[in-house]
Formats: sequence, structure tokens, C-alpha cells
Amino acid sequence: MCAEIHGVQYLIFGLQTQILVIQHFMQIAQCQGRMFVIFLFLCIQTALCAACNVTIISRDDWGARAPNDHDHLHTPVTVALIHHTDRDHCTTKAACIQELQDMQNFHMNNQSHSDIMYNFMIGEDGNVYEGRGWNTVGGHMPYWNIVSLGIAVMGNFQRGPPNSAALGALQGLLACLVENHKLTPDYKLYGHRDVGHTNCPGNSFYDVIKTWSHYDTGKPVLPTKTPTRS
Ligand SMILES: *[C@@H]1O[C@H](CO)[C@@H](O)[C@H](O)[C@H]1NC(C)=O
Repeated sequence: MCAEIHGVQYLIFGLQTQILVIQHFMQIAQCQGRMFVIFLFLCIQTALCAACNVTIISRDDWGARAPNDHDHLHTPVTVALIHHTDRDHCTTKAACIQELQDMQNFHMNNQSHSDIMYNFMIGEDGNVYEGRGWNTVGGHMPYWNIVSLGIAVMGNFQRGPPNSAALGALQGLLACLVENHKLTPDYKLYGHRDVGHTNCPGNSFYDVIKTWSHYDTGKPVLPTKTPTRS
């Protein structure tokens, strides 16, 4: 004879503008005198199961257009690929939102991308902005799109690195991606120039990320096996 007790708890976190609801099902099954406790976590909303120490502005909140197409990204991926946008800098949320809308229009209208190219963008206002986001293949680097998350800081950082607000937001986002199993804990960090013929992410920014612990000094090897766990 097995007795079962079901309990449901709802935890609600106010995460800046985003409401995160975690349904937590606890099941205690008593089977032949032995007790089993089973926890099932189901995250509703886009992807955030663990709260992060960084402000992430959703697509809705910056007025993103709907994408024309969408391919599922199998996560966790093993590579974070860092870019600069090589466009305008922005230091206020309002200016960053304007720049994001202009950039999305340029990527979609002029460059025939299905959406803004990057998974996430970061402004020198210290905010992270959701691009294609957590679970969608990016359009930032052929071959690498399906095995990486593409993160761009807005501006050109050839002669001068991003400000500390943007660098702090980038580090917060990387930790958040690991925490939420979107990046593997031993992920490799590369600059765009490590895998393509480009100045991106700019000399000064590149000099900064090269000092970070996940930066991989070896020759980048395109991961051949896409992780299947989502
Ligand atoms: C993008 O395309 C629009 C419409 O064809 C055009 O007016 C605009 O100048 C283009 N923008 C750039 C930056 O090339």
C-alpha cells in the first residue's frame, strides 16, 4: 500500500518588470514504510528559474518587433561569444531602447535577418536587454550560432572599453546564464574575432575579456556535438 500526499506551493518573485512564477510540486510517497520525497520544478514564463543579480529588460519592455522566424537553441551551450554592435553607444534606458529598435529594424529590414541578431544586448546604462533570448538560435556568427549564446555590448569599443556598468552587467548576465543552465559551468568565453575575421568586439573590450577566467586562450574548436538537454 502506498500513501501519497500532494502539496503545491507558489513562489512569486518580483524581478524588476518581470514576474516570475515557480510552481513547486512536492510529492511525498510512502511505500512499504519507506519515504520518498520528490520535488518537481516547473518554470513558467520564458526561462528564468533562478533569480539573477542583473536587470534584464524583456523584449516587450523595449518594444521589440515579433521575429519572422525562430529556431530552438539546445541548451546549455558551451560557448559565450562576445560582440560589440559597432553602432551607437547609449547611457540611458531611453537612448538604449531607441538604439535597440533602430538596430532591430536594420537587422531585419536591411540585412534580412529574422530578428535582431544577438541573444542579449547590454547598454552602458547597465541594463541587459533581451534579444533572441535564452532559447533561440542567434544570427551573430555562422556555424557558432547553434552552439553559443551571442552577447553584444552596444557601441564601438576599439578605442576604449565599455564602462563599468556595462561590464558589470555582462558578468552578471554570464553568471545568470550558468545559474539557469543556459551556459555550462565550464563554458568557454570568446570574442567574435577569435572565430571570425573582424575587429569585433573592439581592441579595448577584447583586452578586458581576455583577462576573465572563462576566456579560452586555446584555438577555438567548433563544438561538434550539440548538447541535447534543454
Ligand atoms: C535600410 O533600408 C531602408 C529601406 O530600404 C533605407 O531607407 C535605409 O536607408 C537603410 N538603412 C541603412 C542604414 O542602410
